[in-house]
Amino acid sequence: MSKSTDELFKNVISHAKEYGFVFQSSEIYDGLSAVYDYGQFGSELKNNLKTYWWKSMVQMHDNIVGIDSAIFMHPSIWKASGHVDGFSDPMIDNKDSKKRYRADQLLEDKIAKYDKDGKTDKAELLQTEMDTALKNEDLPRLRELIIEHEIADPVSGTRNWTEVRQFNLMFSTQMGAVADDADLVYLRPETAQGIFVNYLNVQKSGRMKIPFGIAQIGKAFRNEVIARQFIIRMREFEQMEMQYFVRPGTQKEWFNKWKETRLKWHLALGTAPEKYRYHEHTKLAHYADAAYDIEFEFPFGFKEVEGIHSRTDFDLSQHQKFSGKKMQYFDPEVDPETGKPYGNYIPYVIETSIGLDRMFLLTMINAFEEEDLSTEEKQDSRTVLHLHPCLAPVKAAIFPLIKKDGLPEKAREIMDKLKLDFNLQYEEKDAIGKRYRRQDAIGTPICITVDHQTLEDNTVTIRHRDSMAQERVDANQLEKILGDLVSW
Ligand code: GAP
Repeated sequence: MSKSTDELFKNVISHAKEYGFVFQSSEIYDGLSAVYDYGQFGSELKNNLKTYWWKSMVQMHDNIVGIDSAIFMHPSIWKASGHVDGFSDPMIDNKDSKKRYRADQLLEDKIAKYDKDGKTDKAELLQTEMDTALKNEDLPRLRELIIEHEIADPVSGTRNWTEVRQFNLMFSTQMGAVADDADLVYLRPETAQGIFVNYLNVQKSGRMKIPFGIAQIGKAFRNEVIARQFIIRMREFEQMEMQYFVRPGTQKEWFNKWKETRLKWHLALGTAPEKYRYHEHTKLAHYADAAYDIEFEFPFGFKEVEGIHSRTDFDLSQHQKFSGKKMQYFDPEVDPETGKPYGNYIPYVIETSIGLDRMFLLTMINAFEEEDLSTEEKQDSRTVLHLHPCLAPVKAAIFPLIKKDGLPEKAREIMDKLKLDFNLQYEEKDAIGKRYRRQDAIGTPICITVDHQTLEDNTVTIRHRDSMAQERVDANQLEKILGDLVSW
């Protein structure tokens, strides 16, 4: 990371804390690693991102519905899905520091170092060797690579490594009073399984016809060993997932469609297209036959924000096997080739899975600007979040110019008329200029000032966040102005 991008990232993190967007969880107890809380403006921004996703996935598609399944699920679900056996990372311990690391992460750091030092041949060779070892799940080879490339423990600096072992990422806990194996339940590591096990309930109760989708927003939990880069890799995070059930043989077409549709969703927020790229997976998860990531260029490089996966009929077939219940769909449509209905089959599934917290960070980074406003006469600057008005936590701030002469009462009266429809903030403390700066810092698109003229002719001054331009409007127009500003 160059100094300026490193600084930008640090500034966004401290801004997020200073202005009530994101706090370290349990901070007064020195925090809990890789767990974060969202503050008063963070939770608004997060809710607005959820609304944007929900509207475009559920409200805009006749054939997609939303559900909210429980975090706790029957433990057999995770055996069937392959997570008990297959959802793990290769870990290595250092005997001196007693610290545990992800073997592939140590190697990736080394590859980045080779790249930085101009040793691109070495970087490429190590990357290929690591990919092969990971693909073949060759754990001894991963250890050999760590030793061959003289990778030292980042804490102790020693090279006293143990064997590489697989480490399951699922959190488990006990349900009920008796602590034996039968009561072991997992915190879900993805929301998708709640959709798979409910797909026939939804299909039948909603009389859904293939192709159709089920969407869900909810918490997921992973015992990530490496906590990195703020809210990029968390132990408790939120996913927005949609499973799209299709006729076998049509999955490629739907996969391509969703890959494009999802990128468009990102770009519709006004982000520069060059900030995004696709990354095709070569090492596929145990359930997938094709997978692409949508990556965003964070200050520390391109990172996955969303995954588009072709999950075949793997999950539904596994649930049929483990539960003993039929997971088939009856398709009454006539196959033009045979002239007969398609009949019973287990649908194939295309999944779109976006991390809400990563989307949140992306949005903050994209919106953040430290703007130089200096003129020849004086030095000046401001920190502003150029958030899309639909995403802004506060839609408008209302200020009485001064705290007397009936101006606070008039400002409150205007606010009361609007606050059912829009999230507003009333502020009367400090000079107007300072109040503008505070609202710029949280991304409020407009500030409305009530002054003495308002008492005479019911007009107010509107100041726009991005241009800082001001205009005088009739207070009766505010509902329409705000409505236009924040309509999706
Ligand atoms: N159901 C498929 C699935 O869970 P994934 O690629 O493992 O796929 C999907 O996760 C998305 O969830 C990722 O693209 C990422 O945005 C987010 N995500 C995954 N692990 C995360 C973590 N530890 N912290 C924050 N977000 C995470």
